[in-house]
Order: sequence, then C-alpha cells, then structure tokens
Amino acid sequence: MIIIKSEHEIEIMRESGKVTGTILRELEDFIKPGISTKSIDRHAAEIIRENGMEASFKGYNGYPASVCTSINEEVVHGIPSGGRIIKEGDIISVDVGCTYKGYVTDAARTYPVGEINPEAQKIIDAAKDSFFEGLEFCREGYRLSDISNAIQTKAEGEGFSVIRDLVGHGVGRKMHEEPQIPNYGTAGRGPRIARGMVFAIEPMIAQGTYEVLTGEDNWTISTADGKLSAHYENTVVITGKEPELLTL
Ligand code: MF3
Ligand code: CO
Repeated sequence: MIIIKSEHEIEIMRESGKVTGTILRELEDFIKPGISTKSIDRHAAEIIRENGMEASFKGYNGYPASVCTSINEEVVHGIPSGGRIIKEGDIISVDVGCTYKGYVTDAARTYPVGEINPEAQKIIDAAKDSFFEGLEFCREGYRLSDISNAIQTKAEGEGFSVIRDLVGHGVGRKMHEEPQIPNYGTAGRGPRIARGMVFAIEPMIAQGTYEVLTGEDNWTISTADGKLSAHYENTVVITGKEPELLTL
C-alpha cells in the first residue's frame, strides 16, 4: 500500500527536508582533498543535532553512522571512517536522512573532490540530469514506471548503465515505504501516481557494468568492474501541480 500523506504530515516533512538539503549544500564547500569520510559524518551529525532532529540512518538495520559516504566505484552505503581520506580527483557520494517528529527525508549528492577529470564530471551530471528527467513524471496521473523509464532513458542516453539491485522508494514514517521505484523499466506500468504520495527518487548509475558487489563490511556496495558510480537523490512530494522537492 502506498501511504498518502496529509498536508500536516507534508508540513513536518518540509521541515525535515530543509535540514537534509542544508547538509548537502554545506558539504559542497566542506568536501576537499585531505579530509576523512568520518569528518563528513561528524559535520552532518552536528547540523542534524543543532536543528533538533535525528539522523535517520543511525541504527537502521544496525548502520553505524549518520551518513553514507561512497567513493568512486562505491555505489552506496559506504561507512564513514577516520582512516578513509578523500583525495584530489575522487568523486564521493554522500547520502543523508533526517527524522523530524517521526518523519524521514532522504537525499544524496555526488561531489567532485578538487579537480576531477571530465569523465568523472560527466557521470555526476548524468545522475543529476536523470533524476530531473524522472521528476517530470512525478505528477498525478502518470504511472510509476514512467519515472523509472525516464531515468533509464536519460542515463543510458548519456552512455551510463543503471544499477538494478538498488531502487528508489516511498518515504514517510519509515525510510523505506512502498512503492519500490526502480531506475529502469518499461513506461506505463505500475500504480498511478497520486497527490500526497512522497517518493525518494534516486538514480544510481555506473560507467561500466550495472552489476554490484557487497564489501566485507557487509554494507559498502561497489560496481563489480571497479568503474565509477554516481548517485543523486531527493525526497519529492506529488502535488496537484508541480512536484515539490523537499531536500533541494
Ligand atoms: N538512503 C538510503 C536509501 O535511500 C538508505 C541508507 S541505508 C542506511 O535507501 F542503512 F544507511 F541507513
Ligand atoms: Co533513499
């Protein structure tokens, strides 16, 4: 069942989304060569706490941190560590969730670390652009797979592959609600999109194969061929008009 949120619930999620979005915007300046992924986690945790919210990821299925930091071939769910130092030329995805009054918002960006090569910039841009293609279908009356198809068409059109094993999702009282929203698929399938639905739309794309492997920490998911991956995510409310981005 896809849970429809009331205006009151959406108002709470708006507050939560502001903080999630603020963290990701602040990280644009914070992320530099030479810092540890742990320092990114601390910075995000501090902003969450200052705003009286909770880190949605902390303790989720035993996850030990407030954010996920995934470098280069790592797709998602990298665990921040004091010993993991980012360097010039890396790309790093940061995924963060805030919980406010019991409601979660979830978002991610992929950042360049210092100067990066054009191919790396291209995959960062393609992840974001494919999100915005999908967003066009986050409107009443379309079907769920219209979003999936739009993301896939853009990502593959830019020469990238779409990760199959990880999907977008409904979000609200729980981080992962129905429906699952794959980033690939045939248009015109699945439930009709309706006002009051709230989705985490999150293309995860790769330069090479879409096959992934789980690391020895049982969290970090990487591309099977070691090529770059990028992730871009926002929490989106379906309205009677334009979709509303809570985490921008
Ligand atoms: N933000 C991720 C998602 O979009 C979930 C993070 S998993 C966690 O599904 F365990 F780190 F919380
Ligand atoms: Co998500």
